[in-house]
Amino acid sequence: MKFDFDQLIRPNIRSLKPYRSARDDFKSGILLDANENPVSPGPEHELNLNRYPDPHYDALRNRLSELKPSVSPKQIFLGNGSDEAIDLLIRMFCTPGKDRILVTPPTYGMYRVSADIHGIETVEAPLRPDFSLDADSVLAKTDGVKIIFLCSPNNPTANRQPESEIRKVIEGFSGIVVVDEAYIDFSRDKSLLPLLSSYPNLVVMQTLSKAWGLAGIRLGMAFASAELISYMMRVKPPYNVNSLTQNIALKALGNPAQTQKVINDILEERTRVSEELATLSGVLKVEESDAKFLLVRVENAPEVYKKLAEQGVIVRYRGDQLHCDNGLRVTIGIKQENDDLLDALSKILQTG
Ligand SMILES: Cc1ncc(COP(=O)(O)O)c(C=O)c1O
Repeated sequence: MKFDFDQLIRPNIRSLKPYRSARDDFKSGILLDANENPVSPGPEHELNLNRYPDPHYDALRNRLSELKPSVSPKQIFLGNGSDEAIDLLIRMFCTPGKDRILVTPPTYGMYRVSADIHGIETVEAPLRPDFSLDADSVLAKTDGVKIIFLCSPNNPTANRQPESEIRKVIEGFSGIVVVDEAYIDFSRDKSLLPLLSSYPNLVVMQTLSKAWGLAGIRLGMAFASAELISYMMRVKPPYNVNSLTQNIALKALGNPAQTQKVINDILEERTRVSEELATLSGVLKVEESDAKFLLVRVENAPEVYKKLAEQGVIVRYRGDQLHCDNGLRVTIGIKQENDDLLDALSKILQTG
């Protein structure tokens, strides 16, 4: 399918003269360009927080490119969580009241919320009841659609989609296909990042909020062609990733082995919790997971959800989502938390 980036992007974005600061050209010297305070009055002085952060977060992009050899620094956008990337992509490509996005329910809610905020209609091409992606149904519904959001592994269903089905969507669509890989580090499948060199209409999103254990610093990543990323960099607020976040992310990315160990521990716990849940009477099904949570179907799920909360164990009720009847979404915690969940759940299910 022919892909014409210039036709796809909104005309006002194509002709946008982005905000420029002197820091775009000079990052060191006697910095009297940005009306910053020359000092921080408090003890935080040593953190240099009187200065604006690097608007291009070059150190982080370089480090990420080392960790992910299929992308160059110019193919990386960083934002205030992946949620900022979702918002920015919709604003760049979709004209309110005219263009649409497509989602595959049940899936992550922010694609639709972001579209709603901007007055963009959301078209739905549901997953099959077994949560598999129906590429033909997606491609049949693309009238007026500028962006298709796919999520693999998917939230809240926890399953991954086969690369072949995702490729079918990318190849059959002349707009942008976003593949949200927030949970990719917990999956048996590899990231689709290597496909970026073949598909100019592909955007892959990842985040430091899950595997890297840094949800609090808000750092989301979008990877795409250098051309598409250059537009994201022009549209974003100039200093969208603050200095504290940049510094902590750099430190964490310096030690991927530590993160891999945490991932391995979570995967072990995921297997254990899944097996133990399946033995409880009242548990109807534990869906297979490639993510860092489980979708568990239990009898009387709304009631069970409330009783768990009364015992201080908070899970997410997802039985109201398409194909997720009686579903509770349970995040894998540390061993003690998982034991507490299993304990509370088995008592609730026994007493009915
Ligand atoms: C599929 C998916 N994408 C993105 C996000 C949000 O990521 P971030 O914390 O980077 O905004 C979540 C958070 O739960 C998610 O489940």
